[in-house]
Amino acid sequence: MHKPFSSTSNNSTSGALTVKSRPRIFAVCNQKGGVGKTTTAINLATAMSAVGMRVLLVDLDPQGNASTGLGVRRSSLSKSMYNVLFGEVNIMDVVQETRVPGLSVAPSSIHLSGAEIELVTSERREYRLREAFSTNLPYDYIIMDCPPSLNLLTLNALVATDSVVVPLQCEFYALEGLSHLVKTIERVRKHYNPSLDIHGVLLTMYDKRNNLTAMVAEDVREYFGDKVYKTVIPRNVRVSEAPSYGLPAIVYDMRCPGAQAYIHLASEVLKRERRLKAERRAAA
Ligand SMILES: Nc1ncnc2c1ncn2[C@@H]1O[C@H](COP(=O)(O)OP(=O)(O)OP(=O)(O)O)[C@@H](O)[C@H]1O
Ligand SMILES: [Mg+2]
Repeated sequence: MHKPFSSTSNNSTSGALTVKSRPRIFAVCNQKGGVGKTTTAINLATAMSAVGMRVLLVDLDPQGNASTGLGVRRSSLSKSMYNVLFGEVNIMDVVQETRVPGLSVAPSSIHLSGAEIELVTSERREYRLREAFSTNLPYDYIIMDCPPSLNLLTLNALVATDSVVVPLQCEFYALEGLSHLVKTIERVRKHYNPSLDIHGVLLTMYDKRNNLTAMVAEDVREYFGDKVYKTVIPRNVRVSEAPSYGLPAIVYDMRCPGAQAYIHLASEVLKRERRLKAERRAAA
């Protein structure tokens, strides 16, 4: 059993917390609704901060589930990612600490639902987020929770990110929607962000007793090969209860199978990160 909140994690004097020039950025993205994007963003961010990473979760969804799921009271917000996108404030002006040591959140507000239309006529509308991230930010990782659509907010995330984490629920139409996302990522890579890639595809709400789950998982692994994370996230009621307490599942019930799966996912993600870093070095 992993112990994410051991006394050695998140020590502000630890070497792992030294300020780096630029954080690595992930967008948790799938235009399909309810596939586990927010749950993944919250729990992956929590598990990564538990092993000493400084993580900023950026909530880009007007629904604000990542913000409330981390205990932010949205009614009391005076500034949010909306103001950041429109260049009114620096992203650090909206960042809040969470109850998880090492994990901060840049909350969304309902105003973000209007941002889509307001951005259409804005200059450099696709680059707003990339510009917001261009200052020195004291994090190892930024994880963005995207809305369930391929709108301008998601486009901003794809332009600003290094890599995309794609949660996928194993159901009948899952792959159909995925090909649309993959085409969008290719288009963004070609026109805006040449180094954009898919970090991994994550099978969520996995039900091993369901034959359809197994069939879809097989198809996904055949199509995406080793891009699919070995870790799968089981369907687990404790995971779905946690947000109503404003807590990540990993804090709400660290021992539940869903929390354990996210802890495994974080170590798989970080292992993949080390490999990718070595590959980038070798290519340089
Ligand atoms: N592993 C899991 N086991 C059980 N329930 C889960 C699991 N993961 C997510 N859920 C529940 O499924 C619902 C959808 O999850 P979530 O909000 O993370 O998806 P989403 O892709 O962010 O949705 P949206 O597209 O609306 O933003 C939520 O009620 C969540 O609590
Ligand atoms: Mg969501």
